[in-house]
Amino acid sequence: MEKKKEPDIQLEEWDPRFKEWGPVYKAIFRSFGMIWTAGKVETFVIFLLMLIQGLLPTLILYLSRDVIDMVIAIADTNNQSFRDVAPLLIALALATIALQIIGPIFLLMKSILGDRMRRHVALLVMETANQHPDIAHFEDPKLHDQLRRVRQVQSRSADLVIYAFQAGSVFWGLLSVALFLSLFHPLAPWFLMFCAFPYALAHYKYANLFGVALQFQAPEARKLDYFRNQFLSHETAKDVRMFGLHDFFFGKYWHIFMRILGVLWSVRRREFRSLSLYALLGGVGVCAVYVILFRQTIRGVLSIGELTAYASATLLIWTNMSTSLFNFAFMHRVGGFLTHLYDFLKRKPVIKMTPKEFAKPAPRPFQKGIELRNVSFTYPNTDRKILDGISLNIHAGETVAIVGKNGAGKTTLVKLITRMYDPSAGGFYLDNVPVHHYDLEDLRAQMSVVDQDFLKYQLSAQENIGLGNVDRLSELDHIKAAAEKAGADFIDQLPNGYETILSRQFENGTELSGGEWQKIALARALTRDAQLLILDEPTAALDVRSEHDIYARFQELTKEKTTVLISHRMSTVRMAERILVLDSGKLVEEGTHKELMKNNELYARLYSLQAEHYNV
Ligand SMILES: Nc1ncnc2c1ncn2[C@@H]1O[C@H](COP(=O)(O)OP(=O)(O)OP(=O)(O)O)[C@@H](O)[C@H]1O
Ligand SMILES: [Mg+2]
Repeated sequence: MEKKKEPDIQLEEWDPRFKEWGPVYKAIFRSFGMIWTAGKVETFVIFLLMLIQGLLPTLILYLSRDVIDMVIAIADTNNQSFRDVAPLLIALALATIALQIIGPIFLLMKSILGDRMRRHVALLVMETANQHPDIAHFEDPKLHDQLRRVRQVQSRSADLVIYAFQAGSVFWGLLSVALFLSLFHPLAPWFLMFCAFPYALAHYKYANLFGVALQFQAPEARKLDYFRNQFLSHETAKDVRMFGLHDFFFGKYWHIFMRILGVLWSVRRREFRSLSLYALLGGVGVCAVYVILFRQTIRGVLSIGELTAYASATLLIWTNMSTSLFNFAFMHRVGGFLTHLYDFLKRKPVIKMTPKEFAKPAPRPFQKGIELRNVSFTYPNTDRKILDGISLNIHAGETVAIVGKNGAGKTTLVKLITRMYDPSAGGFYLDNVPVHHYDLEDLRAQMSVVDQDFLKYQLSAQENIGLGNVDRLSELDHIKAAAEKAGADFIDQLPNGYETILSRQFENGTELSGGEWQKIALARALTRDAQLLILDEPTAALDVRSEHDIYARFQELTKEKTTVLISHRMSTVRMAERILVLDSGKLVEEGTHKELMKNNELYARLYSLQAEHYNV
């Protein structure tokens, strides 16, 4: 296989956000609001501890300077007694102990706040995702990148608390120690900060860059997740073994993994080069101050106590300077992640909606039914018209079948009727009212759908069916009645009956056959007390007998309901009162089975083809 050379990744080009500080800091400030709501008492206590923790090292230096000088004086002259030092020693001991004790309290408060933030963000994300009544967003790769970054934010939101307070504490400590060192010389702290600044700034820059690298690899990282899952998921286990796909997926995984690692290592290399150079400059600055301190001590200008305290202060300025900017950098990094969270929260529904307070309740019962007027549809971010100028009626109480070749647009039509998307052009009316005037939740409550690609929940049989009508989830009789209508009589024979988990991935779970699953999906739709029943290939996997049983009772199942049935089996389609024929997104025929057969167009051709097949 020819190896393609990957283009060099310029991190700065990935997203202009790297250069934009405004939104990042706005996000950080917004999150401070979140931290405050997450725990007011804890935030306040942490703030106090932060002030104290920042001050204590300087206080300790201050006290130790005097203690050392007094101890030396006692040793030299014996003029003073140990008692004179005692108060200072006690103060020094107390300050040291306080510094030790504050650590664990700080840690405890930070973890409490961190956990609360994580919960807060998790709820916010789930609520936001749930607020989207349409599915268009979920077909946008950008949303999935965003969601992956948001997932990272969830754990990082706790880090923000840590970095923010740590940065505050260290910065405050830096100020106090600088003030202390200015007792030696007012320019000394400035000189040291000047020497340490490039190092600290490099720390800041690369911590950010690393964050950006992580964030903007979300699309790649999602692919990585996907390829890894091919080895781990139940759904793919069979194919991977059957077709021998191990090496194929591993190769893809490895390629992306190395590419991601390559970018991270390039950041690390650049970071290492800059940091070692600037560390040298910082070291020279510290040594220069040391030399002056020693000279002054030899000359007798400084005492030994002052020498040790100022020497420690010198080092403390250097470390505080880089740690404080390092923490700010992490804050910035988390802030970058948070901007994705806020971008995600800003996403608005794509379909037209009337606010709940102004929306009409769905009509009960439908009077006239559904009408599409000259409806066309193109999936978002694509340019192929899937439905093209469709006008049709589905009268209240009527059973309509839709037929057409694969890809004709039948399922897409269902997605428009269930309002997963809005038509790109044309009108959609229910009882002569534009459908977006109705309360969406109430409208959907009037619909029940068996999707062509129905879901198999890894839950009990009872829940798998009951989810069609969650309000009646615990009513086993109701669920059993729906199962019976769908011909799902096998459930009684499952190891734990209706409580059996329908997945082998859980203890005592079981797996169903394709047809059994389809019966479950049908039962799920039938638990719902809906006026509009939409069945998209509901019996494709059923054996002849089961399918026959269901259609024998079809009249009863669809009694007093408006029904849309999509099927490739012409023998079932002919039962419908009216048949709509779709071809390449256009409605090409419409009528009863008899009328369409007489027409002798597409429907008649499809019907005869299938009939011929059976008559061989
Ligand atoms: N989410 C989507 N985004 C973009 N294009 C899509 C999407 N879903 C379907 N399509 C395209 O729309 C066309 C119609 O698909 P649709 O699922 O409506 O066909 P169908 O008539 O239900 O076919 P089948 O008989 O195979 O179920 C297909 O060509 C498909 O490629
Ligand atoms: Mg379909």
